[in-house]
Amino acid sequence: MDPTRAIEAACVASLRAYAPYSNFRVGAAALTDAGAVYAGCNVENASYGLSMCAERNAVGTMVAADDRNKIRLVAVVSPDSAPCFPCGACRQVLREFGCVEVVVLDSSNNPQSYPLDALLPHAFGPENL
Ligand code: THU
Repeated sequence: MDPTRAIEAACVASLRAYAPYSNFRVGAAALTDAGAVYAGCNVENASYGLSMCAERNAVGTMVAADDRNKIRLVAVVSPDSAPCFPCGACRQVLREFGCVEVVVLDSSNNPQSYPLDALLPHAFGPENL
C-alpha cells in the first residue's frame, strides 16, 4: 500500500506536537486496510510520565472514529530527528491493531519501510488470549 498519504499526515501532525519539555516533535499516521488515515502527535505534560506518544494518539483517534479496520501501516516522522522509530510501548500498541509495516523517513527524507514483526519479534497479541 502506498504510504504517501500517511507520511504527509504524519508530517502535518508533527508540526502540531505539544512538546515543550523535550522539544522533540513527533507525528504519526495510521493507514487502515480500508484506506483511511488517522494522525496524531505527541502531547507532553508537566507531570512528565503522563506524556503521550504520537503513535498512540493516532491509534486513539482511529478507535474514537469507530474504525475497526486493521492498520496496514503507520508512518512516523520527527522534524527533530530522522529516522524516528516508535518506542517499545507503541510497537506493542500498533501490534494490537494488526499493523504490518512501519514507515520512517531517513535523513534524506526517503521513506524506509520495516515489518512490525522485525521491530517487535515474538510479539504477544490479542490472539494469545
Ligand atoms: N515520542 C513519540 O511521540 N514517539 C516516538 O516514536 C518516540 C518518542 C515522544 C515522546 C516524548 O514526548 C518525546 O517524543 C521525547 O521522548
